Amino acid sequence: MSQHDLVIVANRLPVDSRTLPDGATEWVTSPGGLVTAMESVMKGVDSGAWVGWAGSPGEAPDPFEADGMHLYPVRLEAEDVEKYYEGFSNGTLWPLYHDVIVDPEFHRTWWDSYVAVNRRFAKAAAEVASPGGTIWVHDYQLQLVPEMIRSERPDVRIGFFNHIPFPPLELFSQLPKRNQVLRGLLGADLVGFQRESDALNFTAAARKLLGYQVDQHTVTVPGIGASEPRQVLAKCFPISIDAGAITALTEDPELRERAAQLRRDLGDPKRIVLGVDRLDYTKGIRHRLKAWGELLNDDLIDPSETVLVQVATPSRERVDAYRQLRDEVELTVGRINGDFAPIGRPAISYLHRSFDRRDMTALYMAADVALVTSLRDGMNLVAKEYVASRPDLRGVLVLSEFTGAADELRAAILVNPHDIDDLKSSVLRALTMSEEEQEEAMRSLRRQVLDHDVQTWAKLFLEDLEEIGRTAKPGRPA
Ligand code: ADP
Ligand code: F6P
Repeated sequence: MSQHDLVIVANRLPVDSRTLPDGATEWVTSPGGLVTAMESVMKGVDSGAWVGWAGSPGEAPDPFEADGMHLYPVRLEAEDVEKYYEGFSNGTLWPLYHDVIVDPEFHRTWWDSYVAVNRRFAKAAAEVASPGGTIWVHDYQLQLVPEMIRSERPDVRIGFFNHIPFPPLELFSQLPKRNQVLRGLLGADLVGFQRESDALNFTAAARKLLGYQVDQHTVTVPGIGASEPRQVLAKCFPISIDAGAITALTEDPELRERAAQLRRDLGDPKRIVLGVDRLDYTKGIRHRLKAWGELLNDDLIDPSETVLVQVATPSRERVDAYRQLRDEVELTVGRINGDFAPIGRPAISYLHRSFDRRDMTALYMAADVALVTSLRDGMNLVAKEYVASRPDLRGVLVLSEFTGAADELRAAILVNPHDIDDLKSSVLRALTMSEEEQEEAMRSLRRQVLDHDVQTWAKLFLEDLEEIGRTAKPGRPA
């Protein structure tokens, strides 16, 4: 097996394998912001490796290469998918880390599976990292991996980045295995978060639950036996997108035509309002639809002039809360279309499938307003992608205060999605903003997104990791 200086470990590989009806396998881009971000970072790295799951239960494919990356698939059996992925990751941690929007479930068998699968990922990563190399572990599914790698490979630098929020102590304390999770994370040299408040929540948990000493962003982990205490840096690194690549796409005449065609396909409405989300209860899709239905009902929006395009990417479809959400969203969309759509045109154009990057960019280019209404969201890359797609300085971003992106994109129309009246008036304000106002806001948003792209984010994280690794372990190769 080859050895790599930089190894990414994430629950998913950047591509998912799908079995076609004729039994052949096709590879498609995996869903979610983690893959969007890390894929573009890894394309600039020579001989980087990515350890992750290929998206289907059962035997893992052999290691293979894609886009210059070395991919190492990790096996998940059907029972692991049920207990580690759908269970502890997405039935316990996901809701707990997102302000308990739905009730988290706690089951000891889910935890056992989480431990076992984290061990499998740690072993796979430890096998392919070169001596003194760097292993960068990602997201809530793999919080035990840093400590597990450290016990096998004390020579490597270990970074961890949490793509989702880290909850306040009052919520985190509910987690039955909270101390094990904290110790797992503290196996890293550097633990990165989206927002400063996430980093503070984490250091507060280390201090209050483990009794560890915390000095600003540094947690001191006591040594075991004769070993020295270690210092772990916990800091925020707001993630971003490949803004330059998206802006470059918008200059492609074929994409401009595709955006114009989209508008024609929708019946040439005066205004297109766009929502793009995984079909997840954290995204506030129900709140958005409620506001939209009321605006139509109150005659504040004319459906023959304004259409809502809602892309709802299939996600975690076997988890109960996601099934229920899909049923509710589709019922509501059907009702709104039944009540308000003009003949032959939708009031809401609902798309429950994946699109490629070009189609997604054409959608952003066509949209007069982008609507992000998350009830809680680590960052929300859709907001940044919309901004990157608008070098024409047109378009308005309505952005939930409860996203990480709201800390940076202050020139958006910021909204509390729980307040349906606020949501309605924000949509109306967006629809009536003058071209000058749009330009002024978009210019400021673009400055932020273009100056802080995903390459800069990765560089800052890896530089800090290298620095802390050097000071924490003097004998190790730099
Ligand atoms: P999350 O990571 O929770 O899914 P983000 O907004 O941070 O949320 O990231 C979502 C990513 O997935 C974005 O890069 C977006 O463009 C992409 N995406 C969302 N829906 C689709 C879809 N239907 N087809 C293709 N890509 C999608
Ligand atoms: O950070 C958000 C995230 O959970 C990523 O970890 C993941 O890649 C993405 O959303 C999509 O979720 P899933 O991998 O469960 O389909």
